Amino acid sequence: MASKLFITKSFDSIDQEQKNSQLKRVLGPWQLTALGVGGTIGTGIFVLTGLEAALHAGPAIAISFIIAGIGCLFAGLCYAEFAAMAPVSGSAYTYSYATLGEFAAWFIGWDLLLEYMFAAGTVAVGWSRYFTTFLDYFGIVLPAQFTSAPFASTDGLSIVLTGGILNVPATVISLLVTYICYIGINQTSLFNSVVVVLKVAVICAVIGFGVFFIDVANWTPFIPENTGVWGEFGWSGILRASGVIFFAYIGFDAVSTAAQEAKKPSFDLPFGLLMGLFICTVLYILMSATLTGMVSYTQLNDAAPVAVALREHAALQWLIPFVVFGALAGLTSVVLVLIMAQARILLAMARDGLLPPMFAKVHPKYRTPGFATWVTGIVASVMAGLFPIGILAELVSIGTLVAFIMVCASVLVLRYTRPDMPRPFRTPYPWFVCLAGVFFCGMMALSLPLDTWLRLIIWMLVGICVYYFYGRHHSVARKELRE
Ligand code: ALA
Repeated sequence: MASKLFITKSFDSIDQEQKNSQLKRVLGPWQLTALGVGGTIGTGIFVLTGLEAALHAGPAIAISFIIAGIGCLFAGLCYAEFAAMAPVSGSAYTYSYATLGEFAAWFIGWDLLLEYMFAAGTVAVGWSRYFTTFLDYFGIVLPAQFTSAPFASTDGLSIVLTGGILNVPATVISLLVTYICYIGINQTSLFNSVVVVLKVAVICAVIGFGVFFIDVANWTPFIPENTGVWGEFGWSGILRASGVIFFAYIGFDAVSTAAQEAKKPSFDLPFGLLMGLFICTVLYILMSATLTGMVSYTQLNDAAPVAVALREHAALQWLIPFVVFGALAGLTSVVLVLIMAQARILLAMARDGLLPPMFAKVHPKYRTPGFATWVTGIVASVMAGLFPIGILAELVSIGTLVAFIMVCASVLVLRYTRPDMPRPFRTPYPWFVCLAGVFFCGMMALSLPLDTWLRLIIWMLVGICVYYFYGRHHSVARKELRE
């Protein structure tokens, strides 16, 4: 039994899957880069920056972005090596299947639900907030019971009724982008690219105009003194903020799930992954430094920090509606890319028999994983419309960090177990990069609260039950072993 848990998937079968793929190969390096940027820049920069600067890091929030960015860079290099070697849609799930075995793969696949599906729901709720703000500019006010979820939880244990009926904008946006994902990868990529241009333009405008309104006094002291409590300013505050801010980087790895839709995966995937990450990191550092330079970090304790900074300078107020629009665009593409990515992971898991076969079905006309796409979109929209999403949001970061740690570890394992495998992209200094990736991501994961860890454990236990009752009985690898 134990040895079956470690049964691995051969690279030959991965290669075969790649060749037999029914998905459409249409994405080039820049479209993949746009998917990376599209799936990444969203709530993190438009919402969390201000809160974390005000509560934990001060102007040194820029350092938190650098720390989180370094962790992601190490993980990104490992993803790039794997994605070029095994260009199939399962991403970290498939990489661990080939190296650490079936159980670890299931563990990661289940964990990735947290990264993609839960994050899509979370970001859709952020979208709804920006949407209502946007309508406010035009004097349109939606009834509160249709913009908030009926259930909330203040302590993470008990559920209370809020008086809300359904978060309609969050539900509608999730379903709309699901439809785009369903009708084709070309449509998804085109829509994403247009939206990415818009949001990057807005961020560049804030940086470009805001830089003239920076008062260096706002950066002094750059690292506010620790209050005596771990995580409240000082270096511990920077670290704590980096654990939260990590959310801003989630999504760059979604590029790897489009592996079977890349024209030339061995080059396009490493390029898209690393270029996307590079663009996001630079924008995050510049944007956070600009905001904390424009106003005192103490004023940024607001869910719309960019608007707060702009409102402070009369000459920049005209930018506010554009920022709200840019944020809306930004959050739309994040939901889109995360749903697209999740559907492809479900497809890979179903193809291996660990999930029911309908998840592996590719639509004959649209050549997308239709069923998996709709299930992802509907679950994300129900979560976004009805449930207290805050608790789930915390799980998103920890789930992603665990996936990154597994990918970094798997790359190192494979360098020793299969040194002969062709590697179109090789991570430089693998010992250093892989271990540093494990260390940085582990450090950020440890900076998250204990109850987040407990929830992760509960989620993984549920996953183990699903594997025990379904996956292990239907696993294709096990069937092949028996034959
Ligand atoms: N990185 C994505 C965001 O910040 C999830 O919204």
